[in-house]
Amino acid sequence: MKKTKATRRFALALAMMLVLLAALTGCGGGAAEEPAGNETPDALKIGIVQIVEHPSLDTIRENIIAQLAEEGFVDGENIVIDYKNAQNEMANLKTICQAFAAAPVDLIIAIATPSAQAALGETTEIPIIFSAVTDPLAAELVDSLEVPGGNVTGTSDAVSAQMIMDLAREITPDIKTIGALYNSSEVNSVSVINDLKAYAEANGLKVVESPVTNTSEVQQSAQFLAGKADAVFSPIDNTVASSMPIIVETLNNAGVPFYVGADSMVSEGGLATYGINYVILGKETGKMAAAVLNGADTSTMPVMTMTDMDIYVNTVTAEVLGITIPDSVMAKATDLGGK
Ligand code: TRP
Repeated sequence: MKKTKATRRFALALAMMLVLLAALTGCGGGAAEEPAGNETPDALKIGIVQIVEHPSLDTIRENIIAQLAEEGFVDGENIVIDYKNAQNEMANLKTICQAFAAAPVDLIIAIATPSAQAALGETTEIPIIFSAVTDPLAAELVDSLEVPGGNVTGTSDAVSAQMIMDLAREITPDIKTIGALYNSSEVNSVSVINDLKAYAEANGLKVVESPVTNTSEVQQSAQFLAGKADAVFSPIDNTVASSMPIIVETLNNAGVPFYVGADSMVSEGGLATYGINYVILGKETGKMAAAVLNGADTSTMPVMTMTDMDIYVNTVTAEVLGITIPDSVMAKATDLGGK
């Protein structure tokens, strides 16, 4: 029989399949290697859902996975992690969480508020451990922080608008009007902005708001606020954190200081914050996830809130703005400029 191109290709494919089959069944003859861990039939399945990729959420995820390993749950060995990022689209969040519920996975780890809300929307049975949810009560995830009451608990990264604004006024004492830049559909942000308004009211300051609903609106919003406010403030907002470079450029060009809710936003050019350590928060989340895998009950496992706060400043941004950060602040601060 004359060998055609097609038969040759068929023979090649057949040979490749045989090699693959041999590798899968472990009768390849070569050095005896462990089968790939994620073939382990009794490995626990963990779905990780993250609203979007920005530096802070990525740090959190990496530390959750590292801590799980520390606790004896190693991806590809005795657990299988399915990580999905929703690219800041609510529709994607729903699809991802539906798939986790249908699988079903043994545990869902939800990074940031919108992810946790979407996960709870799909299951009240599968345990959910959330990470970095600013206000779990406002997000309607738990009955109380002490006794969550259902299939959901986790860690909170609540920060204080008051502490950040006190810091802002120590650095730039002439602030009268504060511009609020945030996504009004992120409960985590709305909660902090409400605190900001209360602070402003008590301290004779004015708040000008320019809420956005997605990243395509942030530059215009920053531009608008630059013309109205002495300083701009963004809480721990995922939409803002995903578009820092364009906001920083806009505000720096206008000479307006930008105070933010998280260290990563300072690394990316924000002037300063009073915030929590997300490496520790990630690890704490990993510990809670491990406890659940070991049989602990989410309904009685208290939400963990971070009490240690640190000052982070960016001296490179300060220089661009022509601002000198007082020694009183520098003495307590970590400088993330140039990082
Ligand atoms: N706290 C945010 C939420 O509840 C998530 C978050 C964690 C975040 N770290 C951040 C947002 C840093 C912006 C910047 O959804």
